[in-house]
Amino acid sequence: MSALPAAAPPSDLHIERGASLRAFNTFGLPSNAHTLVRVRSAADLRRVVNDPELGRARKFVLGGGSNLVLTRDVDACVLKMEITGIRLLETRDDAWIIEAGAGVGWHELVSWCVDHGLPGLENMALIPGTVGAAPVQNIGAYGIELKDRFDSLDAIDLITGRTVTLDAAQCRFAYRDSVFKHELAGKSVITNVRLRLPRPWVPVLGYLELERKVAETGISAPDARQIFDWICAIRRAKLPDPAVVGNAGSFFKNPVVTPEQCRDIIGRDPHVVHYPLDDGSFKLAAGWLIDACGWKGKSIGRAGVYEKQALVLVNRGGASGAEVVTLARAIQESVYGRFGIRLEPEPVVW
Ligand code: EPU
Repeated sequence: MSALPAAAPPSDLHIERGASLRAFNTFGLPSNAHTLVRVRSAADLRRVVNDPELGRARKFVLGGGSNLVLTRDVDACVLKMEITGIRLLETRDDAWIIEAGAGVGWHELVSWCVDHGLPGLENMALIPGTVGAAPVQNIGAYGIELKDRFDSLDAIDLITGRTVTLDAAQCRFAYRDSVFKHELAGKSVITNVRLRLPRPWVPVLGYLELERKVAETGISAPDARQIFDWICAIRRAKLPDPAVVGNAGSFFKNPVVTPEQCRDIIGRDPHVVHYPLDDGSFKLAAGWLIDACGWKGKSIGRAGVYEKQALVLVNRGGASGAEVVTLARAIQESVYGRFGIRLEPEPVVW
């Protein structure tokens, strides 16, 4: 098991000027960074804060670039998070606590846990992006959200350079949302995340596509490795691999509506996919709404709607961020026109 680096590396900051960001965003959109700093430790971040020039500059935190639409150059100091290391921090009676650096790939962490007999993250296999970005939008898939496995995190305050530790309540997790999208946006940078994997492990199989796998294979008590393999197969079958087709995962959040709004939409189309939530509201499947408006497989310029999942916008080759935004707006308008629902984009648009 690798350890997190304990002390600052002796080297100076690694700074690039005018660096291309095309390879650093999963949409593959063209954009250059005024300044790019490769952050390999919390100490690197403190150096940035204390640097006379970099300390004053506007900051842009870049993880895996998997939730990002770049429409122009980034005239800020890009902090490319490359803090590595995964370790089992503690084995308690009721949980394993693991810690990972912000720059570790999320899927790498999930695979590491499965390989080391530490179950609990397998439903979130193959989610693109880094560990440091995971709490920002409270990533989730197939019945589990990050908040369900979260212990605490460390972040560096970009004004003072101090380390702050936040627990789940302080992170204010909600559906694809956290404090890092609001009060702490641009103010603090996550360096390490600690996850809590409950013991004994209980598989989460309630999601329809997993129930189908259980029925198809006859494996009624799958282990974490089996669920990991199923999730990878399910995602590969319907989501494009960013290494092959540029994309940023789900482009819009699933809208949450009141019971009255839900009734109105069912009146417009009785087939609308909707799920009741605990608080009485309803979550609608944005992919279904977009599909119902006839967008699947369509393109505007070099940006398109993925053939197998209408919630995913793709770069058909050489698209600009502006083309992606034009397509997204056209989709928003048609969904609003037909269903009266305003879709909210999930990625950060710069
Ligand atoms: N649907 C359609 N047509 C489409 C796409 C979807 O009719 O083109 C229908 C499906 O048949 C299904 C419903 O819409 O009845 C929901 O689709 P799906 O199960 O694929 O899930 P989703 O709501 O589109 C969400 C997350 C995904 C996550 C999956 C699985 C959001 C915005 N997206 O997608 O997360 O992997 O559930 O849990 O919450 C991401 O955030 O980037 C992401 C991929």
